[in-house]
Amino acid sequence: MKLMGNKWRWICLPFTQAIQLISKISGTENKSVSMYSPRKMNLSQSILCVFVLLIVTAPLSVAQQERESNGQALVWDGVYTEAQAMRGRDVYEGACGFCHGFRLDGAADDPDMRSAPPLARAKFLRDWEGRSLAVLFELTRTTMPEGNPNSLTDAEYADVIAYMLSVSRIPAGDDELLPELQSLARIVIQQQE
Ligand code: HEC
Repeated sequence: MKLMGNKWRWICLPFTQAIQLISKISGTENKSVSMYSPRKMNLSQSILCVFVLLIVTAPLSVAQQERESNGQALVWDGVYTEAQAMRGRDVYEGACGFCHGFRLDGAADDPDMRSAPPLARAKFLRDWEGRSLAVLFELTRTTMPEGNPNSLTDAEYADVIAYMLSVSRIPAGDDELLPELQSLARIVIQQQE
């Protein structure tokens, strides 16, 4: 049996034995194959064994895919902390509020500023529905504050987003929102829990 490596042989052993048992019962036992030697598996047994393994492992890989997609979180799953949102509020008031408004509704604090889109609550969540926090983070980092993009640290941008979520009445959790695209990409914005 040279088709498969040693590892496969040992994985296949229980299946081979089962197949041999069935052969024995049905009277078609191949006398040259020993019950306990995986080295003497013949080709058809090996092929059968691979099929059986595929059938047995198929539901496992489906479950794995489900788990991986469950690695996705919603903004409602406690993705930032209270303390982080408080830090974000300070950043927001210093760098964003005079355009986006102290209520984050897009009504500028500074009457000389043109109005800007809301950054919290129903309209904001509706506009961003289904997109990930990575998209929001990157857009904010690369375009905001308008006229001076990328002027905050990555951590400060994450803090501001935490503040935006808290103003939207999305509950805080135990872990901070990390300024890392990979983990932000797993968190999806949804209007409702
Ligand atoms: C000088 C005014 C100004 C400042 C300061 C400012 N913004 Fe903006 N912001 C705007 C304007 C205007 C838009 C709309 C831009 C567009 O649609 O082209 C915008 C758009 C955005 C958007 C996209 C909203 C959407 O739904 O499309 C986000 C997010 C955002 N700003 C976040 C921030 C954050 C966070 C800060 C502070 C770090 C900030 N902005 C500071 C004026 C400003």
